[in-house]
Amino acid sequence: MQCRACLLALTFLAAARGSASLPFSAPPAQGSALELVPSHRPAQQAARVAVHYLNYIASSPNKLQKPGEVKQAIRKDIPGVGHKYYIQFTTEDFLSDEKVCVCSATVLFQMKKPRPAISLNCTSNKNQKQAREDDYIFYKEMKQRTEAISGKEIPDSYGHIDPSLEPLWHLAIAGSSYIMWEKSEENLHYNVAQIKSVKQWIRRDDFIDFDYNILLHEIPTQEMVPCQMRIVWHPEQPMKVKYYCLPVPRSEEEEGSGIESKEGSASYGNF
Ligand SMILES: *[C@@H]1O[C@H](CO)[C@@H](O)[C@H](O)[C@H]1NC(C)=O
Repeated sequence: MQCRACLLALTFLAAARGSASLPFSAPPAQGSALELVPSHRPAQQAARVAVHYLNYIASSPNKLQKPGEVKQAIRKDIPGVGHKYYIQFTTEDFLSDEKVCVCSATVLFQMKKPRPAISLNCTSNKNQKQAREDDYIFYKEMKQRTEAISGKEIPDSYGHIDPSLEPLWHLAIAGSSYIMWEKSEENLHYNVAQIKSVKQWIRRDDFIDFDYNILLHEIPTQEMVPCQMRIVWHPEQPMKVKYYCLPVPRSEEEEGSGIESKEGSASYGNF
């Protein structure tokens, strides 16, 4: 059986396979391919970025995953393009640590393109029925509100999250996965540090809609990156994410394009 998150990934490639052996695309023989130590940072980073991508396309606050174990990693230098990683790894449930998927992925960090290009194939034994139900419970609860829900400092300075705000925290992590995927570089990664504030927009259509102010923790620079993020969500639709992050001051040789403002999802529609 394949979990919805994994199925979504598979649909992306239109390459679903029920077999136990993973379709693993081996790097071409020519050029410089290097076998990496799976537990070392470069292999771990490629897996991390692939999981951000998985969480974004799974588009659910209840199907969040985190990287498990990297089993194999190969890096290929593609002159003039960038570094392509061929990785095999497992994922775990974000909350329960239960094993969720076995994946093979390619992650291409491109020199001239803004975000890593990812393709992946995953299989899973986990039943996602409960997650699907939880999605609907959250969705209905938010949809029924006549007064917008709001919150701030999630988690608070003691690391505590009010149970009533937990789904909003998980939705924020799913949406932030889109930002973290886009912003990740070969040597730069992100975690969601805190929701500074969140506010719902009451809508008449089928979607639920939230404005977030979040802080991303940039590693290894230790910068806190404030981002505004808008998430428009329906349990059966790809998540729509719009964001604006304050540019992080960099030394001259690292200086990039500065201000960035992006929008996610192919089917963006009217916000
Ligand atoms: C995914 O599976 C397809 C079909 O077997 C294969 O062509 C592709 O290379 C695989 N991709 C990855 C990233 O393993």
